[in-house]
Amino acid sequence: MEITAAVLERVGEPLVLRALDLEPPRHGEVLVRLLASGICHSDLSLMEGKWPAPLPMVLGHEGAGVVEAVGPGVDETRVGESVVLTFTPGCGRCRFCLEGRINLCTSAARSMDDGVLEDGTTRLSLNGQAVHHLALVSSFATHAVVPAAAAIPVPRDLDPEIACLLGCGVLTGFAAVTRRAAVSPGDSVAVFGCGGVGLATIAAARLVSAYPIVAVDPLPEKRELALRLGATHAVDPVDEIGPVDIAFEAAGIAAVAEQAFRATRTGGKTVLIGQPALGVHASFPIYELTQFEHDVLGTHIGGAVPALDIPTIARLLQAGRLDLGPLVTHRFRLDEIDEAIAVAVSGLAGRVVLDTGNAWREGANVRLVRNQDGGEP
Ligand SMILES: NC(=O)c1ccc[n+]([C@@H]2O[C@H](COP(=O)([O-])OP(=O)(O)OC[C@H]3O[C@@H](n4cnc5c(N)ncnc54)[C@H](O)[C@@H]3O)[C@@H](O)[C@H]2O)c1
Ligand SMILES: [Zn+2]
Ligand SMILES: [Zn+2]
Repeated sequence: MEITAAVLERVGEPLVLRALDLEPPRHGEVLVRLLASGICHSDLSLMEGKWPAPLPMVLGHEGAGVVEAVGPGVDETRVGESVVLTFTPGCGRCRFCLEGRINLCTSAARSMDDGVLEDGTTRLSLNGQAVHHLALVSSFATHAVVPAAAAIPVPRDLDPEIACLLGCGVLTGFAAVTRRAAVSPGDSVAVFGCGGVGLATIAAARLVSAYPIVAVDPLPEKRELALRLGATHAVDPVDEIGPVDIAFEAAGIAAVAEQAFRATRTGGKTVLIGQPALGVHASFPIYELTQFEHDVLGTHIGGAVPALDIPTIARLLQAGRLDLGPLVTHRFRLDEIDEAIAVAVSGLAGRVVLDTGNAWREGANVRLVRNQDGGEP
């Protein structure tokens, strides 16, 4: 079938909207009609060439949609299911899956490196030339073919523009708090960087009754947003911060990682979520690390088990225990991808979400959604 997708053809250049060919789902796969896709900073890092990727590639790894068809071996009743896509479904066979560390699955890592599905091939092509998948997902598109296990069922009435964020940013912040850092009620927390990931970390810290929750960001708009999502204090990075029990780095800047370390108390944890370019180093003083039993933890998706954690977050959203509404500050159609990327690059957005359900090529049923205040984004 023909689909519309935003393709990274060359590093450092804008994405190109293309009509691509998408093969039907093979054994164990499903076809998903995408409704919404968030833009994560990692998409921007790929565009900037901060880490290598096989090109051309359809970007986007925060997708939500509806199962439209199933391949051989997949239960027919899944058609019509509302789903969130995950980039680590877990192969169930590698040592990390067997240890329950699904986020480190070697099969998913291989798919991510090579830009292919689990059988080592792509379903996407342009004029017969293979186009790569980003991390099994490729959600800057009207449709995607993904492993059936990578399409996690969520309640039908969950708003797609929030649901899609459960694929990466929200899942990462939530699991970083609940799993990797194991924050307890009353723990003091600082979150450096209030983008989609940092704001989700703040919302999760509130959920588990951390106190205080200090948001750190140079932009006043982001500090304001952080207070709405559950921060109890919001400060500029030039201010005196800490010491706190647990400091999260969600900016992806080496100097900020070092600052987060300095803001962590004796016996505390510094949790690194942000990812700068490949090869970037930070330095931590060994005397303090040893003498004060200071843990520095790196994390991929917060240590999430997506098939467990995505439905859990969905349930908490439905129950009103978690309110992520303020997170989505900007909405664009897929054909407005350049503007959407520009807003994401500005750092001013909580999350920018693409409305992929209203394909520009179809022309019909186009819903032009602007800023919440009705103004230009
Ligand atoms: N480890 C993982 O599994 C994982 C998952 C998702 C994203 N990421 C990474 O997390 C990082 C954040 O992603 P995002 O989508 O939230 O990014 P974003 O661009 O939306 O947000 C980054 C925020 O950092 C702030 N910032 C800039 N300089 C700062 C400073 N000196 N001190 C404090 N804050 C500062 C910006 O103002 C902005 O609000 C990125 O590096 C991304 O690649 C990692
Ligand atoms: Zn991401
Ligand atoms: Zn595995």
